[in-house]
Amino acid sequence: MPDELVERARDALDAAYVPYSEYRVGAALRTADGTVFTGCNVENANYSNSLHAEEVALAEAVTRGHREFDALAVASEARDGVTPCGMCRQTLAEFCADDLPIVCDEGGNAVSEYTLGELLPSTIGPETLEAAKRSEE
Ligand code: THU
Ligand code: ZN
Repeated sequence: MPDELVERARDALDAAYVPYSEYRVGAALRTADGTVFTGCNVENANYSNSLHAEEVALAEAVTRGHREFDALAVASEARDGVTPCGMCRQTLAEFCADDLPIVCDEGGNAVSEYTLGELLPSTIGPETLEAAKRSEE
């Protein structure tokens, strides 16, 4: 049995709308209180408006009033250990700490595990802008 959060990410990718890439991705984001929000990729005919599974999960969680997260799982139908892309890493960094565990489905019970800080070691976060504002005062 794979990790429960990986299972939720796998389930979420069934709903992916991927007529262009045919690459299904699911994400499951767990909040500090244990609630899990899921997302899948939703593509668009103009390509660039395509939504990524991780940003859909994060947006759903924030919409429901959650801003603290303790783990993310990502799965693709190919079970190829897909990791969040650069854009999603930055999007996650707005709300998630460097030590957020990110569990990537490698198929069967196999996973690759990272932290957000490993995947995005240097980020612009809310504190970057606050520090800049303070230095102007
Ligand atoms: N994709 C995600 O949903 N998350 C990622 O961070 C990696 C890429 C989606 C976008 C597109 O629909 C498909 O995977 C191929 O890039
Ligand atoms: Zn992405």
